[in-house]
Amino acid sequence: MPRMIVDCDPGHDDAIALILAHEYAEVLGVTTVAGNAPLAATTANALMMTALLGADTPVHSGAAEALAGPAPHAQAVHGSSGLGGVTRLEHDRVVASTDAVGFLLDAPEPDDWIVALGPLTNLALAIERDPGWVDRIAGISIMGGSATVGNVTRVAEFNIWADPEAAARVFRAGADLTMCGLNLTHQFRSSDAVTERLRGVDNPLAALAAESFDYLHARMAEFIGSRDAALHDPCAVIAVTHPELLETRMRAVDVETEGALTRGMTVVDARVSRRRDPDNVRVAYGIYADEAWDLVFAALGAS
Ligand code: BDR
Ligand code: CA
Repeated sequence: MPRMIVDCDPGHDDAIALILAHEYAEVLGVTTVAGNAPLAATTANALMMTALLGADTPVHSGAAEALAGPAPHAQAVHGSSGLGGVTRLEHDRVVASTDAVGFLLDAPEPDDWIVALGPLTNLALAIERDPGWVDRIAGISIMGGSATVGNVTRVAEFNIWADPEAAARVFRAGADLTMCGLNLTHQFRSSDAVTERLRGVDNPLAALAAESFDYLHARMAEFIGSRDAALHDPCAVIAVTHPELLETRMRAVDVETEGALTRGMTVVDARVSRRRDPDNVRVAYGIYADEAWDLVFAALGAS
């Protein structure tokens, strides 16, 4: 089983990703960052998810702001709690520390992965404190960016757009990087059929997933006019636990931090000419979605 630290901002799809990570990997710890909701909310959600999973995984809270200032949130999609529509579980879990960066630097061994599901602020701060860190981990699997369309702006995806300076630093830190961007995650979608299947399953993880999809589908009906949603964050977990389910290509990728129209864009060099810049990122382009759904259903006890 691969070992990983999950850096996240739960978030409905982060919550499903945490379930997958605990099923198919050894999770050394969860670090939290402001993103879908403020840090207090994303941390509370991470703690609740570990409680729901019956896991003693330590949760370390991290950055409340982006490198350049206050963090934007995605509460229009995920609700003010970050897990809108989800029944809260009472529990007594508390954070192991408020030093996510220290945990990221100290905990992993050379075969361990970092799976990044929110803005990349914690990772950028770790690299700033110790640039050699990237050579002491197996790699970083990121849900973020896109090789095609954006979701906040025409070209920028939320996790990168929320802290482009951090993302630019992570993408050029010399780590073994995998990018699961929107071009990939838009191929892995939930629908009301998924919700119905999960509603028939008598366990708390399936119940949370059903509530999550129901809430997301209602938001998507408002935003895109159709009751389905991309299941973004689980893709970055699957990239580590089941890499055979993804089709990837090595590409040169940089993050735009300046452009009036393009700030937060992951600029992918897919030129066919010999002038292509040196590759630094494994970009995911395709997913075997049926097989990936089998993994999700199995982790939710709904095979
Ligand atoms: C990403 O942004 C968040 O809203 C999701 O949790 C996912 O990590 C998709 O753009
Ligand atoms: Ca997320």
